[in-house]
Parts: sequence; C-alpha cells; structure tokens
Amino acid sequence: MAQVDLENITKIFPGGVKAVDCVDLAIHDREFVVLVGPSGCGKSTTLRMVAGLEEITDGIIKIGQQVVNNVPPKNRNIAMVFQNYALYPHMSVYKNMAFGLKLRKMPKAEIHKRVMEAAKILDLEHLLERKPRALSGGQRQRVAVGRAIVREPAAFLFDEPLSNLDAKLRVTTRAELKRLHHRLQTTTIYVTHDQEEAMTLGDRIVVMRDGRIQQEDTPLRTYNKPVNRFVAGFIGMPPMNFFDGAIKAEDGEIIFEEGQLTNVRVVGGGAVPEGKPRSDEPKVRVGQLTVPGTGFKLPVPERLRSVMEGWVGRHVVLGIRPEHFHLRAVEDGESVAVGKVKLNVIEPLGNDMDLYLETALHDHVVARVEAHAGLQVGSQVHVHVDLGKIHFFEPGETGMNLSLVNESAHAIA
Ligand SMILES: Nc1ncnc2c1ncn2[C@@H]1O[C@H](COP(=O)(O)OP(=O)(O)O)[C@@H](O)[C@H]1O
Ligand SMILES: [Mg+2]
Repeated sequence: MAQVDLENITKIFPGGVKAVDCVDLAIHDREFVVLVGPSGCGKSTTLRMVAGLEEITDGIIKIGQQVVNNVPPKNRNIAMVFQNYALYPHMSVYKNMAFGLKLRKMPKAEIHKRVMEAAKILDLEHLLERKPRALSGGQRQRVAVGRAIVREPAAFLFDEPLSNLDAKLRVTTRAELKRLHHRLQTTTIYVTHDQEEAMTLGDRIVVMRDGRIQQEDTPLRTYNKPVNRFVAGFIGMPPMNFFDGAIKAEDGEIIFEEGQLTNVRVVGGGAVPEGKPRSDEPKVRVGQLTVPGTGFKLPVPERLRSVMEGWVGRHVVLGIRPEHFHLRAVEDGESVAVGKVKLNVIEPLGNDMDLYLETALHDHVVARVEAHAGLQVGSQVHVHVDLGKIHFFEPGETGMNLSLVNESAHAIA
C-alpha cells in the first residue's frame, strides 16, 4: 500500500490540447479519492499518467515516495480497472484473473491461492470456469476487479468502472466496491463523471474542470461549502438553483433583490470533442444585470452581513439548493417566505416531491419538499427559504462562493 503524489502535473497533447493543468494532489495511504467532473475535464488523462499509460508533460508523480515518471507501467505496482473491463474473451474467469500473475512468473501455488481468495471476496467461486461472454455485465466487472486484486498492488486505479452497468446494478456494485475498500484498505483513485457516485464512494472528492482542480474536500464539505459556483452546480441533484440579482441597502437592512440578465450568453454544457453533449456540466448564463423591481427580495442573513455589505450595488448570484425550499416556515431555522410563485409541474418521488416553480423573473426553479397533498399545478404557492443554507457567488462560471469568505476555504483554483 502506498501514498500517491501528483506534483504539479500537466499534460499537453500533441496539437496543443492542455488536458491537465498543474494538478497538485496527494492521495494518502489507504485513502479512497474520487476525481469527478464533466466529460473532457481531464480525469482519465490524470489517471493514465499515474498508471504510466500517458507521458507526463510536466510535473512529478510519486508512488510510495518513489518518483515513477520514467518507470514503465508494469513496474509501477498499481492495478487499473477500466470501463470496458478489457477481459480476455477466450480465457476462463480463473485464467483471466491468473494471467497477469503468470506473466510475472509467480509460482502456481501462490497464483491459485490469490485467485481463490479474490474469487471468494467477489463471490465468483461458482463462475471460475466460465468465459466472459457467459457472464452478466456485473459479473464481468467483478472479474475485472478480481484481476486487479490478485496483484495485491500498492494502489487501485478505476476509470468509470460502473458506467456500463444498468442503474440498479450500478448502485449495488458501488456498495460492493466500498465494502471491498473497507476490507482491503488499498489506496484507490477512482474516476467518474457521476457526482452521486463520487459523493457515496469517496473519502475525499476532487472536483475538476478544464484540467484543473476546483475543490478537494470530503463529500459533505463539498456539498455544504462549495468553493465556487461551478462546484455548487455540479455537486447535488437536482442541481442548485441560481438567481442573478443585486445586493441593496434598504431601510438599514442588507437585502438581495432578484434581477434579470440581458445580452445573455450561455456558457458551459458545450460539446466535447467527440461531439457528444456535455450534459453533465452545468450551463451558466452570463450577461448584464438589470433589476426591474418585480423580482423577489430576501434579507441577507446575519452571518453573511459583513461580507455582503461590501457588495451593495453589485451583481451577485444567489444559490439555493432544491431541498432548502420548504412549504412552511422552518422550525428553529432562519427562514423567509419568497412571496408567491407559480407551480408548473409536480414530480412525486414517494417521500418527497420535486416542484418546478416560476418566479416573476425566473422560469425554472426546482424545489424538493416533503410530499404534500392538495397542491394544484398552475396555482400560486408560498415557498420558504432556509436562510441558514443559502450561498452568494460572484457572477461568472467559476464565481467564488462569497459565503465562505470568512472561512478557511479549500479553494485551489
Ligand atoms: N490522445 C489524445 N489526443 C489529444 N487529445 C486528447 C487525447 N486524449 C484526451 N484528449 C483530450 O484531453 C481532454 C481531457 O480528456 P480526458 O482526460 O479523457 O477527460 P475525461 O476523462 O475527464 O472525460 C479532452 O479535451 C480530450 O479530448
Ligand atoms: Mg474519461
């Protein structure tokens, strides 16, 4: 087992694409770190550089204190699991798992011991004679993991290993991987574009965008204290609602007033090079702010007052997560009613429901509230906001979270 250090790693592909831009990250011994971000943000390239499958343009990679920049992949003592499993189709499950060890000329008895142990851990004992084509997707994925385990590597590298599984299997396999890490305690770097997977698996998650680290933090801190608007919009589902507006001083109070953007340009959510939609990146509208006076107003809560006083007369972005809207005032919370809003759609989820709302200036607001009978689509409803949970951001795609200014933010970029 080992610590893995990435020291200011940069990757520029021939032709000039800067896929990874000065990534500095220490993965501790036994830690499970998830790299998460939209397609094309440089996750796989980062992982492939750790594996030795991609040359490093600049920077240093260490595995267990040893610089491995010039060490070939097979000598790096790490095991990688890919999205497509890369099993040998003509070999049985047993042979697939044993193959790498055989290449390393390990004694047969030791190979057998390790394969049988991995098969037991992964519940593959009854499948050892099967060929990959006779396995389900989930079973194939377990064989790929088994092949990594038998190597007893210093670190596991996973690149979207669950992406080819259906939704239900993804969730159960995710839990298995977590249990496996608990048991083996092997240092793990795990890549995914799925924020939920990142939240549930990682001891620490590293949010990337355009080749750069935006935030590295525990899942809960990333969710509760996103350092900027990009992280706030990327982590959490349904995504955080953003409202452009201005900070004003009114009757001795500091308030936020909703406004409207003109000359709007939509950024983010663009196309990845292969032409697939980059649907997992939040779309951000940027433009000039006007405050027509018909939008809602919120008092700036006490905890943010001193910071937001410096923003009076300026454009800021208010962020409210869907779950921080409520149909009534929050008990022992600091909540305010946001006037009346129009209810366009109700999506029942069982215990909860998602409400699609429209304010005077904003036609797509999502609130997640407790299931509640008697709401009428098309009617006006009262919603309350938990002021203890709101955020203010600087305008722009990666506008800083102003609510954290008084805290030691873990911002990197
Ligand atoms: N072999 C390559 N040659 C040129 N550009 C590449 C190559 N591999 C990846 N890229 C580019 O590098 C960027 C990061 O890609 P990648 O690391 O695969 O992102 P992710 O895994 O986060 O989706 C993308 O813009 C991608 O098109
Ligand atoms: Mg990738």
